[in-house]
Amino acid sequence: MAVTSGAGRAAGPGAGWRVGLLTGGGDCPGLNAVLRAAVLAGTQRHGMSFLGFRDGWRGVLDGDAVPLGEADVRPLLARGGTVLGSSRTNPLADGVEEGVRRVRASLQRLGVDALLAIGGEDTLGVATALHEAGVPVVGAPKTIDDDLSATDATFGFDTAVQTAVEACDRLVTTGASHHRVMLVEVMGRHAGWIALHTGTAAGAHVTLLPEEPVDLDAVATVLREVLDRGEAPLVVLSEGAQVLGEQAVRTAQRDAFGHVQLGGAGEQLERELQRRLPGVSMRLTVLGHLLRGGTPSAADRVLATRFGLSAVEALASGRLGTMAALRGVDVVQVPLAEATGVLRTVPPERRAETADLRW
Ligand code: F6P
Repeated sequence: MAVTSGAGRAAGPGAGWRVGLLTGGGDCPGLNAVLRAAVLAGTQRHGMSFLGFRDGWRGVLDGDAVPLGEADVRPLLARGGTVLGSSRTNPLADGVEEGVRRVRASLQRLGVDALLAIGGEDTLGVATALHEAGVPVVGAPKTIDDDLSATDATFGFDTAVQTAVEACDRLVTTGASHHRVMLVEVMGRHAGWIALHTGTAAGAHVTLLPEEPVDLDAVATVLREVLDRGEAPLVVLSEGAQVLGEQAVRTAQRDAFGHVQLGGAGEQLERELQRRLPGVSMRLTVLGHLLRGGTPSAADRVLATRFGLSAVEALASGRLGTMAALRGVDVVQVPLAEATGVLRTVPPERRAETADLRW
């Protein structure tokens, strides 16, 4: 620890503010580390105090909040999930004007000067609209999918990939014992980053992403080659892979942000490959929410901490409407609107790096 003299308190426009924290959307490892860094830095450096809204925007609308002090957050660095809870509540579902009115009224009632919203595309989309309507807000990006375009990385992704690779490493040994094709489905709704990194790190023979059409005959040919070499093939696919030409959907019902619940891509793939490779033993493992749970990796703890620190600095210096983002090795603050414009998907050139290789 670097020890400095004095309280280190700087006077900026946000000094002494009461800040509302919220975590929205699908949870991911590292959310608690952001809360910890924000509360400790905001309290010690800027004399801020903090309220934690429960369950994302739901807590803001309902005025459901708890004070968060230094003692509350100190134990949180390595804890998975979010102690504040999360939801996919969209405060703007009844229109922007009505949503802004309700959010403002709640903040006023609780004496909250500004918000720090920690979330992905949806949560930060709401934060952007609130900022445009004059609500004081900054953001910190999270999503295991790592698909936000304004930042080179989001925390949660590293842990998710690590968990998936550990699972694959186990699955390939049992697959080899039984001369089986092992199929592994990972999360990744529109962007295949988790599948790409898992497939690369686990040595998958085939990796299927949402960004590309799936050629089932070509996949079967590769698997046949691997089997003929006496090896057990590993296939990694995103839940969003379009095995039958479109994404597999569990229920057509949409959440408050318009998302359907994906599910079944792995089963579709197994069925189709089984038809093309009769008699070959296959097993499917759907990793699903395993990838979102548990303690964050060291890299995610560091990134989450840096995002928390950066967001508090943005508040303290009055840089509202910004979001912490990683650019190269630096954490910078970018306009919130940049975060939600376009999803960062896997580009063709990244796939081209290995497309011609037989692993
Ligand atoms: O957006 C992150 C994510 O983990 C996606 O990869 C996945 O499709 C989705 O959330 C699952 O959400 P839920 O927790 O609502 O099932």
